[in-house]
Amino acid sequence: MVNNMKDIAIRLADIQDAREIAEIEKSCFRVPWTYESLTRDLKENSSARYFVAETDRVVGYMSFWKVVDEGQINNIAVLPDYRNRGIGGRLLDFAIETGNSMGVNSFTLEVRSSNIGAVKLYEKHGFEADGIRRGYYQDNGEDALIMWYK
Ligand SMILES: CC(C)(COP(=O)(O)OP(=O)(O)OC[C@H]1O[C@@H](n2cnc3c(N)ncnc32)[C@H](O)[C@@H]1OP(=O)(O)O)[C@@H](O)C(=O)NCCC(=O)NCCS
Repeated sequence: MVNNMKDIAIRLADIQDAREIAEIEKSCFRVPWTYESLTRDLKENSSARYFVAETDRVVGYMSFWKVVDEGQINNIAVLPDYRNRGIGGRLLDFAIETGNSMGVNSFTLEVRSSNIGAVKLYEKHGFEADGIRRGYYQDNGEDALIMWYK
C-alpha cells in the first residue's frame, strides 16, 4: 500500500500517456483495451477525452466520449495499490467538470452488476442506476447496470 497520496495530480491525458494507460488497463480488467485501440481513440476520436491521475507515473485514468450533450464514460481504473484513497472520485469529479465546460450536461455508463466498489463510487458522486442490459458482458454473460448522472 502506498501511504503518501498528497502529490497526486489529475490532468487531461494525451497520446503520450497511451502506454501507461494500457498498462493500467492490463492490471485492472479481464478484457483490457489494447495500446493500439487506446492510441487510435486518443489520436482519431475528437469526441474522446482522457484523464490521468499521476505521481511520478500514471496510477489511474478515465475516459469519456462526448455524444452531443451527453458524456459516455468508457472506463475508470486505479492501480490496486492506490485504491480507496479518493483517486477514482477525483478523476470522476475532474471529468464531470471538464465535460460541463464543454456543454456535456449528463453522463452515462455501464458497470458490471457484481462490481459493488465501482457502483458505490458512482453513487457517491451523484450517479443513479436506471436500467439493466442483460448478458451485456461477453466474457461471462454478466448483466450491466446502466447508470446516469444528470
Ligand atoms: C472502481 C475504482 C476505479 C475506484 O477507485 P478508487 O480510487 O479506489 O475510488 P475512491 O477511493 O475514490 O472511492 C470512493 C468511493 O467508492 C466506493 N468504493 C471504492 N472501492 C470500493 C470497494 N472495493 N468496496 C466498496 N466501496 C468501494 C466507496 O463508496 C468509496 O467511498 P468511501 O471512501 O467514502 O467509502 C477502482 O476500484 C478500480 O480501478 N477498480 C477496478 C476497475 C473497475 O472496476 N473500474 C470500473 C469499471 S465500470
